[in-house]
Amino acid sequence: MKILLFVTLLGLHSAAAVTHSLKYFFTGSSQVPNFPEYVVLGMVDDIQIDYYDSNTMKAEPKQDWMSKVTADDPQYWERETGNFLGTQPAFKANIETAKQRFNQTGGVHIVQRMYGCEWDDDTGVVNGFAQDGYDGEDFIVLDLKTETWVAPKPQAVITKHKWDSKKAEIAQFKHYLTQICVDWLKKYLDYWKSSLLRTDLPSVSLLQKTPSSPVSCFATGFYPHRAEMFWRKDGEELDENVERGEILPNHDGSFQMSADLNLSSVTPEDWRKYECVFQLSGVKDDIITKLDKRAIQTNFGKTGIRSDGSSSEFPVDVVIGVVVVLLLLVAAIVGYVLWNKNNNGFKPANISDTFSSSSSSSSSSSSVKVPVTN
Ligand SMILES: *[C@@H]1O[C@H](CO)[C@@H](O)[C@H](O)[C@H]1NC(C)=O
Ligand SMILES: *[C@@H]1O[C@H](CO)[C@@H](O)[C@H](O)[C@H]1NC(C)=O
Repeated sequence: MKILLFVTLLGLHSAAAVTHSLKYFFTGSSQVPNFPEYVVLGMVDDIQIDYYDSNTMKAEPKQDWMSKVTADDPQYWERETGNFLGTQPAFKANIETAKQRFNQTGGVHIVQRMYGCEWDDDTGVVNGFAQDGYDGEDFIVLDLKTETWVAPKPQAVITKHKWDSKKAEIAQFKHYLTQICVDWLKKYLDYWKSSLLRTDLPSVSLLQKTPSSPVSCFATGFYPHRAEMFWRKDGEELDENVERGEILPNHDGSFQMSADLNLSSVTPEDWRKYECVFQLSGVKDDIITKLDKRAIQTNFGKTGIRSDGSSSEFPVDVVIGVVVVLLLLVAAIVGYVLWNKNNNGFKPANISDTFSSSSSSSSSSSSVKVPVTN
């Protein structure tokens, strides 16, 4: 059932895929124009779940089902914010250390860390990984089997020796990667799964751009995306003079759709015979909206303000939302690609040092554990 749901939602996961993953990506940068110095994001099964950067200084959910963690854990987002805030100095320091090691003085530089865990929900097999990259290339990689660090670059050898000597820290990190991380992964998957089984009803409104435009019946906020919308007159479904739109995604995981009715040949007396019908799969009652002039939200002659004083709600804001999400995705993918540039496969990272020396603190109540440099 779980697999089917994921396939339906994403269309990406093959039916055989039972390996789930939780990964965190940390990016510290210097002198990259218009990009925050420090960005953190988490991913479950390669879907972004949260986001933090040094400009907002606030960890926030990127999936509506991630907001639900606070039901069990009210302090969740504050704690994550604190964790991310606390790790930023290490990344700044790491860039400086790496620059020294590579005899660099200035310019654009990027330190990345990726770590996380995988869990096969069929076999129960668990795997953890961690690695750091510098300027798009592997810098240091954790070998969980031998509990040692591997240094693909000679410039990382000092760091490797330093970190290898911290046996307790490695053991603690291994415990995070193979147990705590997996527990959080399972918890997130449960939130996700229950969100997929829900049904959310939309708000439905009638919109009209100009007095001669078709009247648009607009439903937004519904879930799942199996829904029908049509106009009917005297109880009969209309085909003519109706233009049905596609179902489109909203930025919060819900969906929207509309159906436009061309009223140019309808007399005012006949208006009351028309109604818009919205049907959501799995929900018995239809949402019926009668065609009523007073209920129509318009922009004309009102400077965009409705009679109730709120601003009018054409789908424009939804479109903007989608664009913003796409931009964020592009940013995430750019980071991902940079990281993968010279990498056959994406492994993990964790520094506990400015690539230079280390200590670590960890909170087992957090989904994120970051070994920190000092
Ligand atoms: C950096 O400079 C030092 C001293 O000049 C030199 O020994 C070392 O090989 C240089 N390292 C790199 C990566 O160029
Ligand atoms: C509405 O219908 C009229 C005639 O039935 C047609 O002339 C007009 O172009 C239609 N408007 C739209 C927006 O399709």
